[in-house]
Amino acid sequence: MNTELIDQLKSFFDDVVLPKGYDKNIEKIREFAIAAKELKHRVIFITSGGTIVPFEKNMVRFLDNFSGGGRGSSTAEYFLEQGYHVLFFSRKNSLQPFIKNLMYHESDSFFTFLEHDKNTQHVKVSEHYYDQVSRHYLPWKKYIDSGHLIRLDFESVGEYLYYLRGISMELSILGKNLIVYAAAAVSDFYIPLSKMAEHKIQSMSKGLTISLDPVPKTIGFIVHLWAPKSFITTFKLETDDELLKTKSMQSLSNYGHQLVIANLLSNYRDRVIFYSPLLKDPLVILRETNDHQPIEIQIGKQLIQLHNNFLK
Ligand code: PMT
Repeated sequence: MNTELIDQLKSFFDDVVLPKGYDKNIEKIREFAIAAKELKHRVIFITSGGTIVPFEKNMVRFLDNFSGGGRGSSTAEYFLEQGYHVLFFSRKNSLQPFIKNLMYHESDSFFTFLEHDKNTQHVKVSEHYYDQVSRHYLPWKKYIDSGHLIRLDFESVGEYLYYLRGISMELSILGKNLIVYAAAAVSDFYIPLSKMAEHKIQSMSKGLTISLDPVPKTIGFIVHLWAPKSFITTFKLETDDELLKTKSMQSLSNYGHQLVIANLLSNYRDRVIFYSPLLKDPLVILRETNDHQPIEIQIGKQLIQLHNNFLK
């Protein structure tokens, strides 16, 4: 890694807030990593959802990034079902594996699933929805209780990068058994603490001009320093199809990692393209229009195949 990039990252960490409870959370992840190494588990570290950029230290306003967490949470479900252990690192209040399937109901309310038993005065799952709730609740409970699924959340881009570094380094002891799957939409710009307003920015008739500093690119750090032996997957999101191919190839040649999954904003739930040195040609994955399964099942199948080849 060149020293300029290392210095850039150092000044980033010096000028954002260390996440609350950081040491304790990293300790938990260390225990998870040690157990997984001993038992030779395969692990996937999934980042999911968008980071925010606070405008004030006492934050009222912030800039957000596009991502609801659908991609990350559906991928987590698939990998759990295939026997992987999952570290799910997601934006606070974004979609969660299994739980997400009970959120978008016809009336948009979890209360629809419940009924009041007037005899016992208890509230319980209505018989009509019993199967649907069990189908998602039972695997979630099983994976949480058995430690196959552990979760941690972030909100700001500062928290995200602190944990991205800490988690990657702890999990790196798993070597090739680790997949890093960076599906989060990460802010490209931020306001350093030293330049940030203390209190709520007041309204002004002349409007507001905000200056943002660049966020250091971290893929190179994961590939070369933080988890160099693992299988690293990043995403490329663009709005222009021509640019998507160029940017994805550029990312692969810049960082030399295992996989870039390219997607276009207009159809990212129906089409993705795998670019990888492990593939002879780019692999296009399409979701059939009558397919009710999310595309993440096909992404997961192909990714596990590539991981198997990588392990050989
Ligand atoms: O959550 P959904 O609503 O289902 O949406 C899923 C998605 C469209 C957000 C997802 O499929 C996707 O494309 N995520 C990556 C979006 C993105 O931020 O791309 P990027 O070109 O800015 O970043 C490229 C890669 O580098 C990403 O893997 C990102 O996680 C990673 N990155 C970026 C900046 C940075 N400082 N550090 C990083 O690790």
